[in-house]
Amino acid sequence: MLIETAPPRGKTVIPFVRQIAGIEYPMDSHMDWHAARAALEWQLEMGVTEAISETPINRFEQVAPPPKAGVAPRAQAPAVPVAAAETVDPVAESEAAAKAAQDLAGLKAALAAYPHCDLQKGARNLVFCDGVPGSRVMIVGEAPGRDEDRVGKPFVGRAGQLLDRMLAAIGLGRDLEGANSVYITNVLPWRPPQNRDPKPDEIAMMLPFLKRHIALAKPEVLVVMGNISCQALLGKRGITRLRGQWDEAEGLPVIPMFHPAYLLRNPAAKREAWADLLDLQARLTKKA
Ligand code: URA
Repeated sequence: MLIETAPPRGKTVIPFVRQIAGIEYPMDSHMDWHAARAALEWQLEMGVTEAISETPINRFEQVAPPPKAGVAPRAQAPAVPVAAAETVDPVAESEAAAKAAQDLAGLKAALAAYPHCDLQKGARNLVFCDGVPGSRVMIVGEAPGRDEDRVGKPFVGRAGQLLDRMLAAIGLGRDLEGANSVYITNVLPWRPPQNRDPKPDEIAMMLPFLKRHIALAKPEVLVVMGNISCQALLGKRGITRLRGQWDEAEGLPVIPMFHPAYLLRNPAAKREAWADLLDLQARLTKKA
């Protein structure tokens, strides 16, 4: 549980975890900004998701304090006409920013400067890509997890290590060169909190960047891993049905595959993943 406290002047008071797994933690700890941030990050890692008080506060019932004696009530500000309020279309803005990017470095910079995706605020790093741009195969995962967020590269955790073994089994690798190299990215470049699924509006605002990423990386074949990537690029879900069925997106052949994180949880599905890898290899050999 998180405790809500009012910061005293000049101090940062962070709400402190009071009890996790039966362990008591201190409250009202005064600390500097860095210590406060580290403690908050630690709380997030522990799975804390909400800042709440010990006692419930019904904010709907809270009434404004009465005006001080002798102070005339302030005149109500005129309502801002709705038409005058600034309206921002985050998808239109990401489309414009992505289109303006002339190369991968420009696209990465455009992503870093994009102000409408709140995931950026909670992430340590922008996770843009790994591997060799211009590779024949481009792999599109879902979103960075904790390890990727820390390192700033896609697929570096356990799922990423399995992905590397899968690719190596058909002679491909992110560290290889020429025809054997691969290029890797994700639908989302920032880690969602607690590794939750990306929300539709987050996918919608990142999709123009992903499409431009594909256009600039110029692969011959796309591999989309898991439901989120299938949804984003093919507009379909149901990876169990879709996997291994060649499709098309952005003018390129696409093969949906089980996500390596799914394979870690369901090792029996590796048989199908192997069949899909062989299919990918056969396609590359035929086109070479
Ligand atoms: N899962 C993904 O989809 N992408 C990553 O980068 C890591 C895990």
